[in-house]
Amino acid sequence: MTKKIAVLTSGGDAPGMNAAIRSVVRVALHKGYEVCGVQQGYQGLIDGKFIPLGARDVGGIIQRGGTILGSARCPEFRTREAQNKALRRLNQAAVDGLVVVGGNGSQAGAFKLFQLGFPVVGVASTIDNDLYGSDITIGVDTALNIALEAVDRLKITASSHRRAFLLEVMGRDCGYMALMTAIAGGAEAVVIPEQECDPEEIANIIEAAYEHGKAHAIVIVAEGATYNAQKLSAYFEEHHERLGFDLRVTILGHVQRGGNPGAFDRILASRLGASAVECLVREEPGVLVGWVKNEIRTTPYAEVVGRKKSLDIQLLQLAKMLD
Ligand code: ADP
Ligand code: F6P
Repeated sequence: MTKKIAVLTSGGDAPGMNAAIRSVVRVALHKGYEVCGVQQGYQGLIDGKFIPLGARDVGGIIQRGGTILGSARCPEFRTREAQNKALRRLNQAAVDGLVVVGGNGSQAGAFKLFQLGFPVVGVASTIDNDLYGSDITIGVDTALNIALEAVDRLKITASSHRRAFLLEVMGRDCGYMALMTAIAGGAEAVVIPEQECDPEEIANIIEAAYEHGKAHAIVIVAEGATYNAQKLSAYFEEHHERLGFDLRVTILGHVQRGGNPGAFDRILASRLGASAVECLVREEPGVLVGWVKNEIRTTPYAEVVGRKKSLDIQLLQLAKMLD
């Protein structure tokens, strides 16, 4: 009897998820497997929302952001009851192996299913880039380029008006996106959750930029920083005069996640998706497939789950030297 692989996308969507789905489907078909998609992540798994996927069903999606399967945050899946329900659904649909495309939380959920005896393989995908077991995850490169486009545009209008801007980028618990945006965008300062922020220090940097005759000052702020853009601007309101520049705030939010994947994310997703299928075919589940030291590597779930990839704080020094 033909074996069947299911694929789902979970957590925050990321540009390149569709390329991963396409790769899972086509590589699995190539290896003689049937494939089905699960809609709306773990919620769809609990509800039994399976759809058959053929080669043509994933045509024309490699260039599209988001996920054709839909994604969800599903708090219920943290319960053993929901996990058992999901297992029953997988068995009813005659699924032999599951590929979970997602970030930290999604892989924690996948590990639970694996611990309950189901063959699961994870594909590293989150714009936050905080997943242990992959140096870079699907979606990061595209989201970073969107943030950079915002910086470049803000610099133009900021220079016309001689203004300072606080640009808040995504990153609930992790400052990777903010730090890389600051380095690549040539920002004057960056505020991240991993490092305590003294608003006085940021005010001094803005003031110094003004006194040095700069036409603008750009501060990149991670949404998860204690002093996020809203709190920083509230602080600066009381110290408005000393900044020199007029201050404006831009919150990029979900704009950052909604782009079409660039070449890097399409290729990364295609390779990781293919490798996940190969793990299931070899009957070596219970791993996260990621990009480590310039090659595709698998890391056992037991090493991945419960850990967070740490940010290279040295790069903060680089950002400071380059401002
Ligand atoms: P991401 O995968 O992008 O980090 P979340 O942290 O929101 O996104 O996790 C996505 C989903 O994974 C959650 O809504 C939940 O269904 C599931 N999940 C997260 N953590 C766990 C856990 N510890 N046990 C079981 N399921 C989890
Ligand atoms: O996990 C990715 C991420 O984009 C975080 O950076 C952000 O904090 C969160 O998702 C936003 O989640 P939601 O889309 O549920 O609002």
